[in-house]
Amino acid sequence: MSSARTTHQVRDQVRPAAAEWWRQAVVYQIYPRSFADSDGNGLGDLRGVISRIPYLAELGIDAVWLSPFYPSALADGGYDVDDYRDVDPRLGTLADFDEMTTRLHAQRIRVIVDIVPNHTSSRHAWFREALAAPKGSPARSRYIFRDGLGPDGSQPPSDWVSLFGGPAWARVPDGQWYLHLFAPEQPDLNWDNREVRDEFLATLRFWSDRGVDGFRVDVAHGLAKNLAEPLEPIAGIKNHIDGALPPGSHPLWDRNEVHDIYAEWRRVFNEYDPPRAAVAEAWVHPSRRPRYASPDGLGQAFNFELLEANWSAGEFLRVITDNLSDAQRQGSSTTWVLSNHDVVRHATRYGLPTGDRRDHQTARQWLLSGGTSPRLDRGLGLRRARAAILLMLALPGSAYLYQGEELGLHEVHDIPSELVQDPAYARSRGADKGRDGCRVPLPWTADGPSFGFGAGPAHLPQPAWFGPLSVQAQERDPASTLSLYRDALRWRRTLQTAESMEWMPGTNGQVLHFARPGGWRCVTNFGPGPVPLPHGTVILTSVPFEGSAHSRQLPADTTAWLRPGQNG
Ligand code: GLC
Repeated sequence: MSSARTTHQVRDQVRPAAAEWWRQAVVYQIYPRSFADSDGNGLGDLRGVISRIPYLAELGIDAVWLSPFYPSALADGGYDVDDYRDVDPRLGTLADFDEMTTRLHAQRIRVIVDIVPNHTSSRHAWFREALAAPKGSPARSRYIFRDGLGPDGSQPPSDWVSLFGGPAWARVPDGQWYLHLFAPEQPDLNWDNREVRDEFLATLRFWSDRGVDGFRVDVAHGLAKNLAEPLEPIAGIKNHIDGALPPGSHPLWDRNEVHDIYAEWRRVFNEYDPPRAAVAEAWVHPSRRPRYASPDGLGQAFNFELLEANWSAGEFLRVITDNLSDAQRQGSSTTWVLSNHDVVRHATRYGLPTGDRRDHQTARQWLLSGGTSPRLDRGLGLRRARAAILLMLALPGSAYLYQGEELGLHEVHDIPSELVQDPAYARSRGADKGRDGCRVPLPWTADGPSFGFGAGPAHLPQPAWFGPLSVQAQERDPASTLSLYRDALRWRRTLQTAESMEWMPGTNGQVLHFARPGGWRCVTNFGPGPVPLPHGTVILTSVPFEGSAHSRQLPADTTAWLRPGQNG
């Protein structure tokens, strides 16, 4: 196979060819259009990523995951892919991609790309062919086309709704309807069609041959569908996670047959040395996650439970305990995520008052109010975000970071409605403000055009408060959030050992205290006042605190890393 030479080179350049490098990796998510813009067109690009490799190396990550950089009309921020084997010309070329990969590998940083198999874009050659082809044609059978209901077929085939709001069916000029579980520009593929399956296997090989180390699989729980007529009304199939339906029986989500697809993918991944890794984005009941994370399948699955948990010792304790035991049972390692490109940044979530709601729901409501209600306590949010990341980075398993969290960025809440890009905003008729607030281009310098993101204005407006949070402003400040991330990742490399931990005395409704093999310990105080600091030498604290070594008190909303030694 043509991959042999490439994989050999990759193996030579990257750290020891550990087949399971991903198990405790720190993966940094790059949202390419908002990371760094090398040509001043307002959109981040691959040469922008290349220019920031020294920054990534200094941060101390093991891998980057790039959200889609493929040609796209950006109807859904690039998750509407026109061509799975090319680079959007506004973002660069395949040669740029190769150079980026080679240079990242030279810094021992692995490369994960996003693969979007549930839907193509409506500009994809296949969909254009389907529109030009008649009903019942092979071109249409790559997608999910149906006749409409009613005497003239003018009613959609079912009352299903898109995840971005509005109907999940759109009509084409000859009267047929096609399914789009996301935006109309994202027609769902028909995974019962062999040609669709083969096409994606070829795409996985295409990127693997170029030296890509792994794949993040978008909407991994959506590919297999049961579309036998009559289609079930939405009322009976609203939720696939709450357990109302027998596991695996929802017509659209998390069907058992989806794993046949990933078994084929795994065979391709295992053709490479080291085998290509994959992580599933699967919003499923936790009891169903192990199937996606199976070594015969994708190998790892996102666990979003920390991202959904409130800032509470009890909730973190349950999520950590459950997920570590699940991971152990399934033979994978778990994944920890506090932020990504789809959710309100965690510094903001943790700075909003927790009432009866979940933090992340409160955060969406806050966004809708234009950032006025409830009141955001920026300082508290950041303080907790720093405590949370030290806790997360001390856990066994992979840690996924989202660009900008290392700067302590808050969500941008005041993007004018005419500049909002997320389709969720228009399709929900404003009931959902969308996800642009966490996708605003990064501030690299304290001032200048687009705060050093590019030579001109950025594609989403950046607020004035980005300046003091820029990389430039934080780089030399040992107390900055950026310095905290760098210090934590450096220590983690030294301290990380076997994939296990144990709860220590002192863990209670307010404090979490755990130890890793080798004596590395982490203690977080979620409570409102100081608590006694367990004995040991303080290595790192989420905020500097007065006399940390002497007073032996851990302040509220603070994490400390300890190791055996004097001082108590
Ligand atoms: C995933 C992506 C999200 C995208 C959706 C549709 O959930 O993370 O950004 O909108 O899939 O592709």
